[in-house]
Amino acid sequence: MAVTATTPARPALTPLAVMQDAPVIPVIVLHDVAHAVPLARALVAGGIRMLEITLRTPQALACMEAIARDVPDAVVGAGTVRSAADGQAAAMAGARFAVSPGYTHAVGQACRDLRLPLLPGVATGSEIMLAQEDGLSELKFFPALQAGGPAMLKAWSGPFGDVRFCPTGGVTPANAAELLALPNVVCVGGSWLTPADALAAGDWARITQLARAACQLPRPTSRT
Ligand code: 3PG
Repeated sequence: MAVTATTPARPALTPLAVMQDAPVIPVIVLHDVAHAVPLARALVAGGIRMLEITLRTPQALACMEAIARDVPDAVVGAGTVRSAADGQAAAMAGARFAVSPGYTHAVGQACRDLRLPLLPGVATGSEIMLAQEDGLSELKFFPALQAGGPAMLKAWSGPFGDVRFCPTGGVTPANAAELLALPNVVCVGGSWLTPADALAAGDWARITQLARAACQLPRPTSRT
């Protein structure tokens, strides 16, 4: 009898589970594949497992592959997913969730086909309605501070009371707590956990420290 190799089934990841894992989803730009694994290990050591690797550099897919292969405690996600092809490439590279700067039905369909949980970016009521037409109610508010910040999230809590947000864009340690205190915010996204100078210097201890501090940001327990 032939022996068939089987891969243990992974529990299904949902957009909400991606958002609930930690107060911050780091938005990561990597130019050097050699940085990928030590960076991921540094973030995981600080308590951050959901890692958004942006598709903004030629090295991004190779970085995802390296992390997916070598850092089992990390959950690799793809950021800057702008097309179905981006979603397909990211899934092939080991991404387990996707984040997009905006929303199109094509990206939504591709991620559904790929079983890739998607956090689509929205900045207007119409964009929220388009995403909800496709069954998506966990959304990235992007660019959050530039597009209205906490006041916009408060305004949306009336008509879109069933939507939960990850504000991203202009979020800093100084304003993250105010955003996280809003009832329709589950987590925030930001690039401050992975400063370019720390990456260039290989200062992984600093990145672990930044991740640890991010994990200490208060979140109402109802959203965790
Ligand atoms: C991005 O897409 O670059 C993110 O929104 C990160 O923005 P930030 O650098 O303002 O955190």
